[in-house]
Amino acid sequence: MSTIRLPGLVDAHVHLREPGYEYKEDFATGTMAALAGGVTTVLDMPNTNPPTSTPERLADKARRAAAQAVCDVGLFVGATNTEADAYLPVAAQACGLKIYVSDTFGSLRIDTLALMHRLFRTWAEQAAQAGYRMAGAPHGLGPITVHAEELMLPVCLALSQLYAAPLHIAHVSRRSEIELIRAAKERGLPVTCEVTPHHLFLSTEDRARLGARGDMRPCLATPDDVAALWEHLEAVDIFATDHAPHTLAEKGIGVNATAASLSPSSPPPGVPGLETMLPLLLTAAHSGLLELDDILARCVENPRRIYGLPEQPATWIEVDLEAVYTLEDSALKTKVGWTPFAGQRVHGRVERVVLRGKKVYEHGEVLAQPGEGRVLFAAARD
Ligand code: NCD
Ligand code: ZN
Repeated sequence: MSTIRLPGLVDAHVHLREPGYEYKEDFATGTMAALAGGVTTVLDMPNTNPPTSTPERLADKARRAAAQAVCDVGLFVGATNTEADAYLPVAAQACGLKIYVSDTFGSLRIDTLALMHRLFRTWAEQAAQAGYRMAGAPHGLGPITVHAEELMLPVCLALSQLYAAPLHIAHVSRRSEIELIRAAKERGLPVTCEVTPHHLFLSTEDRARLGARGDMRPCLATPDDVAALWEHLEAVDIFATDHAPHTLAEKGIGVNATAASLSPSSPPPGVPGLETMLPLLLTAAHSGLLELDDILARCVENPRRIYGLPEQPATWIEVDLEAVYTLEDSALKTKVGWTPFAGQRVHGRVERVVLRGKKVYEHGEVLAQPGEGRVLFAAARD
């Protein structure tokens, strides 16, 4: 029998777009896409409109997710330049603090080294009080998560070392970055990192073919950068999608593209990924690039440990390892309905998902009711 049972996956980096960009995705459609991809826990990013940078906005987001989600959802709090007094205390009650210091979508961006000092110092104090260990975050206090590319990466590593602040590097894409992270780990810095499927399976060679469908931050990197991610897989703690849906019209593609969306500066960067991660990874396993255990370590055990996520009892996915099929836009649950991997043959299909003893997905149909997913930490904490 080619159908096996695996734990529900954790996707530690998704943008479910609520509030403000519900036309791209919302908690219902985004978590339906998660279930279709075998993902039973998602960690949602704060670059919404307004951004999740105050206790009120975190509570509002938690209410929306609790009402609509069909899988479990953790919420990141986002650092802004002016609201640190408000967001620092609550970030520890969410699944963590996200800091943007590189080019991205949305308004979140930290501009000064002075504030970075304060954020890392405070986070290190909170982590020490909560008994943070690299071997496992205490419930609800993960690392600072940064979008820090190129020269911003050593800035974050230096601050992490200076204050002994646990640090997680989102979507690493370049040889120079993974080699630096590996060296930092070897010197004992409290740092972890993640890599997306699009940076593992696509490169600059795909840019012309994909056009705006291949535009995201970090940008697709060179084949040598991609080779480095595979070479240094041991240093990669997490596979996460950076599911970042934008409509094809906004990307300037198709009949509905507006004049505004065609202007060169406006196409927003980002690609959906929740429904394609597991088949792509299983296809890599099929061709001998990965072991199943490599996938489970990076999609279940490590994200759970790094972010201190609760166990999901009686939860599993059933995957037909021998199913061979072509990824297609039309089969997707994400509201934007496209993937940069359309047309790709893959091995391994999610047949069924069981969440807390209840069948929530089977053969392409979501069976869960809105609100059956739980919000981690924010609403549930003491
Ligand atoms: C993300 C988005 O659209 O929210 N875009 C992207 O290209 N990855 C933002 C981000 O993760 O930087
Ligand atoms: Zn992102």
